Order: sequence, then C-alpha cells, then structure tokens
Amino acid sequence: MKLLEWLGLQGGAAGSAKARAHHTVHVAPGGQVFEVEKGRKVILNSALSAGLGFPHNCRVGSCTQCKCKLKSGKVRELTDSSYVLSAEDLKAGMILACQSIPETDLEIEVELTTGGDRLVETRGTVVGQRNLTHDIVELRVALDDAMPFKAGQYAELRLEELSLSRNYSFAMAPKGQEAKELVFHVRKVPGGRFTEWLFAANRQETRLSVNGPFGDFYLRPAEGDKPAPIVCVAGGSGMAPILSLLEQAKWAGESRDVHYLFGARTQRDLYAEREMGRLQQGWRGSLNFTQVLSEEPQGSSWTGKRGYVTEALDELALDWPNVQAYLCGPPAMIDAAITKFAALGVKSSNIRYDKFE
Ligand SMILES: Cc1cc2nc3c(=O)[nH]c(=O)nc-3n(C[C@H](O)[C@H](O)[C@H](O)COP(=O)(O)OP(=O)(O)OC[C@H]3O[C@@H](n4cnc5c(N)ncnc54)[C@H](O)[C@@H]3O)c2cc1C
Ligand code: FES
Repeated sequence: MKLLEWLGLQGGAAGSAKARAHHTVHVAPGGQVFEVEKGRKVILNSALSAGLGFPHNCRVGSCTQCKCKLKSGKVRELTDSSYVLSAEDLKAGMILACQSIPETDLEIEVELTTGGDRLVETRGTVVGQRNLTHDIVELRVALDDAMPFKAGQYAELRLEELSLSRNYSFAMAPKGQEAKELVFHVRKVPGGRFTEWLFAANRQETRLSVNGPFGDFYLRPAEGDKPAPIVCVAGGSGMAPILSLLEQAKWAGESRDVHYLFGARTQRDLYAEREMGRLQQGWRGSLNFTQVLSEEPQGSSWTGKRGYVTEALDELALDWPNVQAYLCGPPAMIDAAITKFAALGVKSSNIRYDKFE
C-alpha cells in the first residue's frame, strides 16, 4: 500500500495512480465533483483551482465565509475552528474549507456561486521595491502569466526559500484588462517572517509563486434611484485595496459620492496623497478624503483631524442604513469600525471588509 501511494504521489503511472494521489470531493446540492491533492491541499484552494465559485474571503480561518457542512468523510483541520464557528455550527458538522485537508473522499454541502474567478497559479519576478512610508513598501511583481482580477481582491505570494505564503491586496485597478504586472503595498510587521525578510534588503529579481485572484472585497453596484454614498475606512497598507477599488470605480464612471477616512498614528504614516488627488479630479460625484491621526504630538504642524477614524464617522450625516461600507487594514481597527457602522444603522450585508491578519 505504501509503495502504491508513493507511486500515486509521484504521479508516475497515469490513471489509477492519479486517482490514488487525490481525494474526491462531491458537492451537494449542485452535484459538482473536484479532486484534492492528498495530504497537501485544503478543500477551498482545490475547489477554486477547479473553477468553482466556492464562497470565501480571508483564506486564513477568520471570516467563516467558506464554512460548509461535512456530510461524510474525514478532514484534518489546520486551525481550531471552534474559535470562530458557533456551537450550533459545530454541532451541525460545519467545517472551514480554507482550513480543512481531506483525509478521505468527502461529501460536503455548500451553495456555490456561479461564475467563480478564473484562478491563475503562476510565478513572477520582483521588478520594483520602493518605500512609501517608514514601514510600508510598494512591491511590483511581473508575472509569467497574466492574471484577471476584480479591484479590491488579493493574491497569494509564496516564497519557496522560506516555505511560506502570504496574502497581499492588489494596489492597482485592472481597468478591463488582465494584469501582467501586479502592485502591492506591504507593511512591516515587527517579528513577521515574510515582512522582516522583505524589508531586510532590496528583493528585486527574486522569484515568487503568485496565485490569485481571491476574496470577495470589491465594489458592489448602486441600489435604487438615489443611492447612498460609499464610505471607505482604511489604516496602514489597507490603503492598497481602497485605491484599487476607487481607481476602478472612476474608470467605470462611478457617480456616487464617496467619504474615505484614512486612519494613521502620526504624519509619518500618511501616504498616497498624490494618488488620492488624482482620483478626486474628475470624479463624477464628490470624493472626500480625510486623514485622521490618533497619536500625532500636540502642538505639531498637523492641522487636520485627530482621534480615531471611528469618531470621525460621527461627524458625517448620511443615510446610514443604505450606505455601503468598505473597510481594510489592521484587525483591531476593522473590528472597531464594524461595531461603529452597526451602531450607526448600516445593514450588516452592506459592510464589507478585509482584515489583514
Ligand atoms: C485577505 C488578506 C489581505 C491582506 N493584504 C495585505 C496587504 O495588502 N498589505 C499588507 O501589508 N498585509 C496584508 N495582509 C497581511 C499579510 O498577509 C501578512 O499577514 C502580513 O504581511 C504579516 O506577514 P509576516 O509573515 O511578516 O508575519 P507573521 O510571521 O505571519 O506574523 C508575525 C506576528 O505578527 C502578528 N501579525 C501578523 N500580521 C499582523 C498585522 N497586520 N498587524 C499586527 N500583527 C500582525 C502575527 O499574529 C504574529 O504574531 C493581508 C491579509 C489577508 C488575510
Ligand atoms: S474562514 Fe475560510 S475564507 Fe475566511
């Protein structure tokens, strides 16, 4: 048996050996079937590779959007789902597809969406790295194969030499085209494995694996004849997907008003003012960009807003129940903003976010 499995894993003899290298997953109620490489891949990634519209967002086991019911078979979980799934979900046999590696053939239940993104699994070369602030760099990666994506989504970068993969949001808009070069904003996390490596030297010429696009953070169409404004809140490199989203919206002729609040500690954490100025010129509605500093020393040259972005939201008089909210950045800021939007009356289905965790 071990030898047969070895042959299967090596992909040697085709046909039966291939079957032994994979577990098969049957999806109810749609009847779709896909294969997952034994012992290696999680359910979600294999479903997306097979072109299925499997609901997901973070792929790190926190948003719970990929939860599905395990009807038969066995999985190994990479993280303890009891932290994020309710007792009711656990009792009903729910699992997180992004954290579950099949150990047998499986039968799962999940509503797939139609028209999943075409997943591109390719490689790329770092062709640019420049400082945007003291702890955020812009990283440009030229791809071997072009990637289609929606503004606001993200890609997974895999660095073989450190055996690790990390997610980074696109900081540019596709504007109707597949991208041959991707732009990311990466913030240094003290002690972080990938970011410490990146910030230790100029990484131009480095080869990376690049998979994507992922996530459901993208601008939804306006609803009704007099749509409410869009409200964006970001902190740190959370600027990246918001720039992407707004750039794409301008290109597509968006006419809704936008209020964009960017939260930072001090003036040295501010960036992308020029890009925001360019977006404001010719925006069909009004595009208000407000920077809010939480730790700027009193008496400094700063004349703008102080405090937390969540406090600045109180000053906006909007048709809150119909506002679409888009939030991106550090988990603590996103959690506080979600609570604030809920208190202001924004429908939970209108709050979309990417927590950078
Ligand atoms: C959907 C998604 C999109 C993302 N997009 C971006 C992006 O566009 N730009 C970007 O800079 N990052 C983004 N991230 C975060 C990114 O994927 C990494 O988690 C981050 O760069 C840290 O990687 P690391 O290997 O350096 O740190 P790790 O070695 O993974 O972490 C080291 C330590 O730092 C903690 N930590 C990790 N991330 C943070 C954080 N953000 N704040 C505080 N503590 C943290 C960890 O818990 C751990 O204790 C995104 C994450 C997700 C899930
Ligand atoms: S928990 Fe699986 S995609 Fe977020």
